[in-house]
Amino acid sequence: MSAKIIDGKAIAATIRGEIAAEVEQMKAQFGRVPGLAAVLVGERRDSQTYVRMKKKACAEVGITSFGYTLPADVSQDELLKLVQDLNANPDVHGILVQLPLPDHIDDETILGAISIEKDVDGFHPLNIGRLSMKRRAPLFVPCTPRGCIELLDRSGIEIEGKRAVVLGRSNIVGLPAAMLLLHRNATLTVCHSRTKNLPGVVREADILIAAVGRPEMVKGDWIKPGAAVIDVGVNAVDDPTKKKGYRLVGDVDFAEAKEVAGYLTPVPGGVGPMTIAMLLRNTMDSAKRQVGMA
Ligand code: GUN
Repeated sequence: MSAKIIDGKAIAATIRGEIAAEVEQMKAQFGRVPGLAAVLVGERRDSQTYVRMKKKACAEVGITSFGYTLPADVSQDELLKLVQDLNANPDVHGILVQLPLPDHIDDETILGAISIEKDVDGFHPLNIGRLSMKRRAPLFVPCTPRGCIELLDRSGIEIEGKRAVVLGRSNIVGLPAAMLLLHRNATLTVCHSRTKNLPGVVREADILIAAVGRPEMVKGDWIKPGAAVIDVGVNAVDDPTKKKGYRLVGDVDFAEAKEVAGYLTPVPGGVGPMTIAMLLRNTMDSAKRQVGMA
């Protein structure tokens, strides 16, 4: 059996097209365009790349982006002041502070200072709290987990009643993904590096979301035949045959999984493009709420 490969790149392109049309409609009806502020602290190469990609995606759909790059030794107070200014700026409908922040800055304080109406990453404690409760709706859902669910939905994979396993428990992916699956009435297991008999637990999954950050950890014989496997991992492994000297692999051994799974996302080209598409979606939805567009 060979898995159906879920083309995240194509699905994300469709979503960007939907958003671009809504931007045009907003322009025509309200004379406004959505605005996203992207705040980068320090010089981490990966964070620089992510922020650059997010700003480029904004431009493609007609969302205005405002970039702020602060030195790694910026004080917490200065960063807080910037967040407060952005909270008050009516042209900014979404605020993104790229994580991780330098050690001397308390990310909980910074994320908690973002207006929940502009919290397009969905990391504000109030949005996370609402996501974690029954019958409560957050204003925003974190982008990567939302992208995982969107990939399942747009591939016609039913979630309700299924055994879902989330491998990894990060604040950014694993935990919110688990909450979303529960809201969709999956029967949920969250497992991690300390789980006993990890392969056996993962093998129960009809739907597997792998987000541990360990290159190709999930082997073919960890996967239930026919399962839907969403691979969130982006890991660089040395590869002298590549110009850059490395290649990107997921948390799942793609070659092995492909022979067992029913559906599988590739790395790159699976979840990655969806994270950015969901950021645009959240920014668009925020702007619609703020200008009163239905
Ligand atoms: N760092 C890794 N993923 C993310 C994300 O989705 N948003 C932000 N702000 N930082 C991140």
